[in-house]
Amino acid sequence: MKDGKYLQEKMPLLEAIEEYNRIRPAYFCIPGHRYEKGINGRWRELVGDAIFRFDLTETPLTDDLHSAEGAIREAESLAARLFGADETHFLVNGTTCGNQIMVLTAAFEGQKIAVPRNAHKSMLMGLIMGGARPVYFMPELLPGSGLHGGITPAAVEAMFRENPDCRAVIAVSPTYYGLCSDLREIGRICHDRGALLLVDEAHGAHCYFSDLLPAGALAQGADMCSQSIHKVAGSLTQSSMLHVRGDRVDRDRMRANLHLVQSTSPSYLLMTSLDAARQDLALSGAAMAEKAVSLAEYAREEIRKIPGMSCMGREVVGQAGVSGFDSSRLTFGAWELGLTGFDLKQLLWEQGGCDTELADYKNVLAIFTFANDREDADRLVGALRRIAADCAGRRETAGRAGEKEQIPPLPSQPEYVLSPREAYFSEKKRVSWSAAEGLVAGEMIAPYPPGIPVIYPGERISPEVWAFIETYRRGGRHFHGPSDLSLETVLVI
Ligand SMILES: Cc1ncc(COP(=O)(O)O)c(C=O)c1O
Repeated sequence: MKDGKYLQEKMPLLEAIEEYNRIRPAYFCIPGHRYEKGINGRWRELVGDAIFRFDLTETPLTDDLHSAEGAIREAESLAARLFGADETHFLVNGTTCGNQIMVLTAAFEGQKIAVPRNAHKSMLMGLIMGGARPVYFMPELLPGSGLHGGITPAAVEAMFRENPDCRAVIAVSPTYYGLCSDLREIGRICHDRGALLLVDEAHGAHCYFSDLLPAGALAQGADMCSQSIHKVAGSLTQSSMLHVRGDRVDRDRMRANLHLVQSTSPSYLLMTSLDAARQDLALSGAAMAEKAVSLAEYAREEIRKIPGMSCMGREVVGQAGVSGFDSSRLTFGAWELGLTGFDLKQLLWEQGGCDTELADYKNVLAIFTFANDREDADRLVGALRRIAADCAGRRETAGRAGEKEQIPPLPSQPEYVLSPREAYFSEKKRVSWSAAEGLVAGEMIAPYPPGIPVIYPGERISPEVWAFIETYRRGGRHFHGPSDLSLETVLVI
């Protein structure tokens, strides 16, 4: 932290609302609940009253997100100083809208933007809104894991050789699983080509505070990045930040796009939570990050002692384009014991009293933050020990997961036929999913979580893509994108 402690101790928005509540004027604005008075009684009993007094609107004291010049501006400036940005904006629609803003800002309709195939679906939404032409490229595949690794500088170079007119490169770093790409080198390549590096740092806001973690995107040369403060720090769900650094980004355009994708009634609860989380990060970010890492490292070590269980660690660095690893992310599995990641997640929930973030065919992902404690880690490890012992007892009959289930290989790049925007606004017809192979997708299909589209609207459904999605469909997995969620049918163009 560059600033003195005193400066970052301030919480301008929280303090403005505190002052407003001290005055407690008769309230004739939106929202209609007037402090706590109009809130459902049972909810008030459960939650208490004070929180509802923070749910205010633009008032003489509380500033205006869309034209910030008071408390919100001050709070955003403190966040910018903390993260090393030149300009920071509070977001009330998550990194989802941060990603949309980055895409909308970097490329106009028809202009090219490089999109890795592990991009979150929010990037697609930005492409649909703005009409930029995606140039898709593949991240590396991490052998044996069924996961994307990083994107390599070589892949970015190759993309520019084919597309010298590309305006920007998107990177997801860290990924959901904590895998980071070499942003410094990728940024250098982008800037040599006059292009922007835009980083989806939804999972990486804590990386700025400890050497135990990979460096943050802005510190490595990103021009813009979007962070879900709610995912790794203490702010409320949906609250994120958008940072910009340097003079390559058209700031007027970025500011205009902030208006395009955010509510005109932004939540003061969310914004105050960002102000408060920023203060915590500023005053104790290192301790917070290090606590998360040390708890996860403890759990990792214990899980690795359980016969038949595996747990990803720093050994991934140097493989498959991975240049850094966020070790507060715990990716583990019991494949050798006959369990898919989906099975294991379910057992942890039903028998182990543990709720984990997501599963895929091979892995379960548990996210450790500063707010977890040793008891959480012990519960997870204890549950895994019990599950492993149960499985070992039944092992003769259960068979290995690999014999029952095949991890569907991540498909390679399907054929591009139309841009996402052209596809989105095209006439479509509904066909049976079983007959969809070879047709042009009219809608995105993304297993959820994590919400990474396997097929974008406008792409031809290759046999590989069809087979990958079919494995998920047959397994009864959850999707985002298809209008028929059972995927009996699909829209094509
Ligand atoms: C990589 C990635 N980017 C963006 C998002 C969207 O973030 P938010 O939930 O803050 O809108 C997610 C959500 O999980 C994500 O995993």
